[in-house]
Amino acid sequence: MDDSEAAAWAALSARRDGAGAALPAHPLTSLFARLFEPPTAPDGCIVIGRLAQTLDGRIAARNGQSQWIGGPGDMLHTHRLRALCHAVVVGAGTVKHDDPQLTTRLVEGPSPLRVVIDTERRLGTEYRVFAPGGPPTLLACAEDRPGGPTHGVAEVLSLPRCEMAGLRLPALLAALAARGITRIFVEGGGITVSRFLAQGLLDRLHLTVAPIILGSGKPAFALPEAQCIDDGIRAGWEVHRVGDDLLCDLALNRARPRICDGDAP
Ligand SMILES: NC(=O)c1ccc[n+]([C@@H]2O[C@H](COP(=O)([O-])OP(=O)(O)OC[C@H]3O[C@@H](n4cnc5c(N)ncnc54)[C@H](OP(=O)(O)O)[C@@H]3O)[C@@H](O)[C@H]2O)c1
Repeated sequence: MDDSEAAAWAALSARRDGAGAALPAHPLTSLFARLFEPPTAPDGCIVIGRLAQTLDGRIAARNGQSQWIGGPGDMLHTHRLRALCHAVVVGAGTVKHDDPQLTTRLVEGPSPLRVVIDTERRLGTEYRVFAPGGPPTLLACAEDRPGGPTHGVAEVLSLPRCEMAGLRLPALLAALAARGITRIFVEGGGITVSRFLAQGLLDRLHLTVAPIILGSGKPAFALPEAQCIDDGIRAGWEVHRVGDDLLCDLALNRARPRICDGDAP
């Protein structure tokens, strides 16, 4: 990290801690300063999604192996997002395949609250996010799933189901906001990011595109079938070079794919 990058990161970290000092002009500032703007959505949250995909839109091989699609710069970027946000959200598929810790290890800064979305409460308690010694974890599952109020060391949050699939994610954001947790980082996988997108809940999406062609594997996005190009979302973006990868910062501004409009969020 050169001096200007270190200065930009120090200023961003101070902003996370509540200091309002000016942020220096730097690509890091362009990438992260929006996290600190006042939320525009009525839920009071800023929600940022992130995925690393191949050129052909895959986030993992079919067997679930995804390490590593992005280069070291993408990993650093991911840890920076963890450090700047109050909560990091992942889906059950990611916990099952990667057994991640979801802590901030590559940068200085606090680890966020860990939120695992496991609608059917199928994950066992053997994963690291449910073990003692780490930051707190919330396990979000459907309110009709049986089980006690804890899962390993995680607190269980019971939420209504969404008509489309998974949980009603506005209810998750409301529960987090009630705890003062309003800067939310949705780290993956593709199904989880897609469900936030389908329910119109992403303010921004950081999509790292690596120069890899896989030709098969798990897709980055899974949405109802589009009938025409206008059914998709066309968003403004800024593109940053991160090592060999391209980091696309998309301004989704809570847009919903038109194809999802008919479904209740
Ligand atoms: N490249 C990247 O940026 C990146 C980031 C994160 C993860 N990944 C990779 O992406 C894959 C995971 O992503 P994803 O889109 O498949 O899922 P995900 O978004 O992580 O998790 C959501 C899905 O997990 C399902 N699921 C699958 N197996 C499960 C199990 N045994 N127990 C409970 N739930 C299970 C859930 O089903 P229900 O909701 O129906 O219960 C839900 O559909 C992994 O291979 C991971 O390595 C890549």
